[in-house]
Amino acid sequence: MAITSLFRRTLLGTCITKSLKTPLTRQWRHNYTGPQSIHEILQRPIKDAENRVAVLSTGWVRAIRKHKNHVFLHVSDGSSSEHLQVVSGSDLFEKSQASYGCSLAVEGVLTKSPTEKQTFEVEATSLRVLGHCDPVQYPFKVRKKHRLDYVREHLHLRPRTNYFGALLRMRNAASMAVHEYFQSNGYCFVHTPILTSSDCEGAGEVFHAVAPDENVNKKVKAEESSSKLFFNNGAFLTVSGQLHLETISGAFRKSYCFGPTFRAEKSTGKLHLSEFYMIEAELSFTDRGIEDLIDAIRGLVTSVTGQLYAKHGDDVEFFEKQMPADYREAIRKLATAGSYQAISYTEAVNLLLKNNINFDSPISWGGDLRKEHEKFLVRHFDNSPVFVYDFPRELKPFYARENEDGWTVAAVDLLVPGVGEVVGGSVREERYPILRQRLEELRMDHQYEWYLDLRKFGSVPHAGFGLGFERYLQCLLGIETIKDAIPFPRFYGSCKI
Ligand code: 4AD
Ligand code: MG
Repeated sequence: MAITSLFRRTLLGTCITKSLKTPLTRQWRHNYTGPQSIHEILQRPIKDAENRVAVLSTGWVRAIRKHKNHVFLHVSDGSSSEHLQVVSGSDLFEKSQASYGCSLAVEGVLTKSPTEKQTFEVEATSLRVLGHCDPVQYPFKVRKKHRLDYVREHLHLRPRTNYFGALLRMRNAASMAVHEYFQSNGYCFVHTPILTSSDCEGAGEVFHAVAPDENVNKKVKAEESSSKLFFNNGAFLTVSGQLHLETISGAFRKSYCFGPTFRAEKSTGKLHLSEFYMIEAELSFTDRGIEDLIDAIRGLVTSVTGQLYAKHGDDVEFFEKQMPADYREAIRKLATAGSYQAISYTEAVNLLLKNNINFDSPISWGGDLRKEHEKFLVRHFDNSPVFVYDFPRELKPFYARENEDGWTVAAVDLLVPGVGEVVGGSVREERYPILRQRLEELRMDHQYEWYLDLRKFGSVPHAGFGLGFERYLQCLLGIETIKDAIPFPRFYGSCKI
């Protein structure tokens, strides 16, 4: 079939409508040879270029370079970190009315590129604009590097930028690497709920779920109104899947969840979102306590990071180019198990006191480690990832297992360059009387009878952790603010589109 007619059949709406009138046969579908993704084209064998095979592709114009008789177009479709270089005669280009940002169908022949920048290019025989883009109105301008905060104001168009293309592919690859790690290490993936009746962290940073009813317009407290009528109890958006995952860990040796998490912190800071993704895991029968937990956290982070470096080097490189050299060195350590350090909270406080730095928040035993303290500790260990463990009981939630000293609990945070805390976890208090006493002290026992049941019926030593997905990406890719590590950032004062 001639290339042009094939192209028309597959791309022109009218022809598609016509073909849909006749039943789609199995054979028709198998014979489909429509436009190829740019990734597919760039993967073709070199002999295709030597034989000047015909190709069809579609994408968006990301750059235009005009020469006297011809024009170079960079076409991208998200499938690859590379663009497809299209060379068009000036006449063909002018006639097509293609412009920066438009969507385009390209027909042409695959050839070897004369420069080393790319292997292939396509000599266009036909250019057809599918959707025009008015360069005057379009907020992104050709050959201009826009600031990330400017780009963020156009959330709906942001995926079209090179930066965001790379970020979205990294999020995709990292998500898959997370699943791959857990699946190949015997964990069961569990869908924990988004609507929940418990505030796992006990910090009161929960969004209340409200269902429409006659109370909505009245000035009543959210928790006393509609969700109570709807569910018979107050309901929130989850702050962590941990407690639900612990019900699973009463029956499954290893389980994990990976989903959206909500925190109503009034923060617009560089490290906080109101909606973020958390990867959480629970491990039962942890006979080595915190050591098992540290091994599991390190196993996940080294494996995911190693996979990203090994398989998605192009996109990693895109971010690395924008980092200072020492930061690039530092984050590479995330992939090497041997570079992880571990220090108890008490040792960490002593270290901070001994170094006598003028911190904005002075540190003393019992006080929370602030961002500046966390960053100091990472720097102190030559920018290595650092586990801090055995925190004072009062600093951690009720579920953390009490240590023998009676003052500390077997909780651990992982601190990394750039962001500080990226993981929080603990050995869980599996001893019924101690957990009941703790919940009574906090006057929380009435809400958590079901959680106490897990300790009443076949309790086992178990531990778990939560890794903030965006903070991990922020650290790995050297992203200044967490708002640029997620497609649709939600934070105090902003929930756009
Ligand atoms: O330390 P956190 O609060 O731990 C928990 O929620 C535990 N229940 C997890 C568990 O043991 N299953 O949160 C875990 C991680 C933090 O270390 C941080 O990386 C991330 O979640 N995180 C946030 N990320 C972005 N924006 C926020 N507001 C975040 N709050 C926590
Ligand atoms: Mg924490």
